[in-house]
Amino acid sequence: MITKNLQLKTLIGNTPIIKLEKDEFNLYIKLEQYNLSGSVKDRAVNHILQKGILENKINSDTVIIESSSGNFAYSAALHCKYLGIKFIAVVDSNINTIMYEKLKSLCYDVIKITEKDETGGYLLNRIKMVKSLISQNENYFWTNQYANVNNYLAYSELTNEIIESVKDVDYIFVAVSTTGTIKGVSTIVKAINKNIKIIAVDIRGSMIFSTEKYSRNIPGIGASKESDFLELGDIDDFIILDEKEIIEGCQSLLAKGFFLGGSSGACYQAVIKYNELYPEKLGSKNIVFISPDGGGVYVNNIYK
Ligand SMILES: Cc1ncc(COP(=O)(O)O)c(C=O)c1O
Repeated sequence: MITKNLQLKTLIGNTPIIKLEKDEFNLYIKLEQYNLSGSVKDRAVNHILQKGILENKINSDTVIIESSSGNFAYSAALHCKYLGIKFIAVVDSNINTIMYEKLKSLCYDVIKITEKDETGGYLLNRIKMVKSLISQNENYFWTNQYANVNNYLAYSELTNEIIESVKDVDYIFVAVSTTGTIKGVSTIVKAINKNIKIIAVDIRGSMIFSTEKYSRNIPGIGASKESDFLELGDIDDFIILDEKEIIEGCQSLLAKGFFLGGSSGACYQAVIKYNELYPEKLGSKNIVFISPDGGGVYVNNIYK
């Protein structure tokens, strides 16, 4: 199984990084849609499964289970199909129709949570469902992306790719959910150069940096709970956007020829908003943002 997992790894990473032309900033986009399943989550899934297999926690009888807003589940579903093991996805009503249909084709089971939790998201109810299922089935392995350190340890290569492509990078903007991506990026970046600023981008109603309860409808960004990973000093700042601003960011990117997902629009809009708040900070700095996925699965909400 490990050989097959390593084969999949050859289809992950070394994604392109593109400089936006004629933009008011020196802005680079790291395009993670060019990974195996079309998102940055391939890096986390491959690494978590690799560790699970090497530590004998995963074998041919194991059923993998995870709560996901879409991208993690799709990557895990593709991985598990190739490895010849079963995968159960616990998703919610915000999931994109196209993503839901893809998962139904690939997964052993897809469980959709339709009741929002007390914060206005679905995560807490998704996790409740996963916990209930693993307590009843000994052969279930929960990848547990919100708390498994192998989630954020998976992002060292992504960080090195950014640093090698944009040698004098000043700012990195990262959309957050499990905070695995930002924690992974920050761990490497801060060890190399503390002056490189890491800015988290979140959505209104997410509980990562705020306690304001507000209904959220864009999948992928935000969480109904605080981060299990982030510590003081990991990030330099955060910025919270509402859904209207995120859609505006997606439309601006589209006008420049980039058809990207909600978190990418959020990052782009965050750069603009951050510059309005602190124009002296961004100036002519080199800024990178990570685009976790493409716009294809967002045609039914953001691009409608
Ligand atoms: C759409 C989207 N937004 C944001 C993120 C960042 O997520 P995390 O904080 O879980 O690494 C991801 C990760 O895959 C994503 O797919």
